Parts: sequence; C-alpha cells; structure tokens
Amino acid sequence: MAKQSDIKKVVKQHSEMDDFFSGGFTIKSIYGHQDEEEACEAVESSVPVDSNCGAELKKIAAKVGKCTKCELCATRTKTVPGDGNPNAKIVFVGEAPGADEDAQGLPFVGRAGKLLGNIIVAMGLRREDVFICNILKCRPPGNRDPKPEEIVKCIGYLQKQLEIIGPDIIIALGAHAAKTMLDSKAAIGKIRGRFHDYHTSEGSKPIKLMPTYHPAYLLRNYSDDNRKRVWEDMQKVMAETGLPLPKK
Ligand code: URA
Repeated sequence: MAKQSDIKKVVKQHSEMDDFFSGGFTIKSIYGHQDEEEACEAVESSVPVDSNCGAELKKIAAKVGKCTKCELCATRTKTVPGDGNPNAKIVFVGEAPGADEDAQGLPFVGRAGKLLGNIIVAMGLRREDVFICNILKCRPPGNRDPKPEEIVKCIGYLQKQLEIIGPDIIIALGAHAAKTMLDSKAAIGKIRGRFHDYHTSEGSKPIKLMPTYHPAYLLRNYSDDNRKRVWEDMQKVMAETGLPLPKK
C-alpha cells in the first residue's frame, strides 16, 4: 500500500500542476513582490530601457513585412515577426505562425498561445516582460512543417532579433525550434530539460538555451508526466534568472 506521505506528495504535485497550467500562481516578480500591481511596476522600472533596441526590432519587423525570400510570401496573410519586450531577459522561440497568428500578425495568439500565456504567468511574469517569436516569420500553408530552405532563408531575422535583445535565456519551444537552433538531430525528449549554448553567429557570446515541449504538443499529449516535464524545465529557467520558485 502507498504510504500516506507519498499520496500527499502526489496530490500536492497535481494541484501545483493544475495551478501552473491555469496560471493560478500568485504573480511574483523577479524582485520578490507579492502584489501584482507592485510587481508589474517593479518589472517595468527595473527593465533596462534601451530605446534604440525597440527601434532596431521595428526595423527588422519592417524588413520581414516586405520579405519575399521564400514561397511563403505568396500564401501568408500577415507576417509574424515577433512581439514583446525589446529588453527581455527571456525569449521564447516557437516553430512558425499558425492560422490565428497569420490572421493577426502576432505570435502565439491561438490555443497554444493561451497555454504559453499561462506558463508565462505561472513563472511570475507577464507576456509583456518577455519576447515571443518563431523560427519562421510566415505561416506554412495548412500548418505543414517548415521546409529546410525556408528555415535557411528566414533564420537571419531571428539571429538579428536575438543579437538586438541579448536575452539571458532562450526557451526553444518544440522539436523544430530546438533542433534548428542547436543544429541537432536529437529528439526533443532527449535534449529538453538542460541548458545548451546558442550562438547567434560563430564566435559570439553563448546564450543559454532551454529546449522544452511545444505548447501545441502539450495540448495534444496532456499527460501529467508531460506537464510536469515542462514545469520542471521552466523552474530551471526561473532558478537561472533569479525568479522565485513556488514553495514546496
Ligand atoms: N505555434 C508556433 O510555433 N508559433 C506560433 O506563433 C503559434 C503556434
């Protein structure tokens, strides 16, 4: 028979995870504030403001807006360059825009985006504290996988965005983002959960990259184990960036 303490542990773990995926944790900023408003003010006033940085990102977005480097320009509705804080410490990188993103020109605004939003809140952050973008800036028709030649033509935009933002951590969402950024053929299940070095160009200062499961994969495979794995990955990122961890 299972020990009472084991049962308690499992029940606690489950309620923690439920809280996590419904964004239920109290919002705590990196600066240790419990009150949401106070936390938001602290984040705003402490993010180093480099006005140039936002302008530089806008220039990239303008270039993406006119891009005709690959065939996706013929089928896209809107380009999706990326969105968020130009001084973000954490950048999330997904695969490519889907139908909702293509319609709105914003990354992760569909079902997977809602789950990503919950993950961000559970980490004690707001969407506007981080930067969110994709490997591809245009939607592959029917949400097919990105083609290698599309990735080759598009990746420069992401590299430039990361050089401008200079985050502490990149979170690669899913196999396409992780394998592309790490130039690896390894399965996401094998590379997730630990930090890897990412270089925007040869010889550049490494940025820590945490691969994890894509929120869309998580929605399709919503097991306790997968949710726990993503939450563990995010807690490693939180520990690395000094975000307070939920009390055990
Ligand atoms: N999936 C992605 O990889 N990116 C988005 O922006 C939306 C869904």
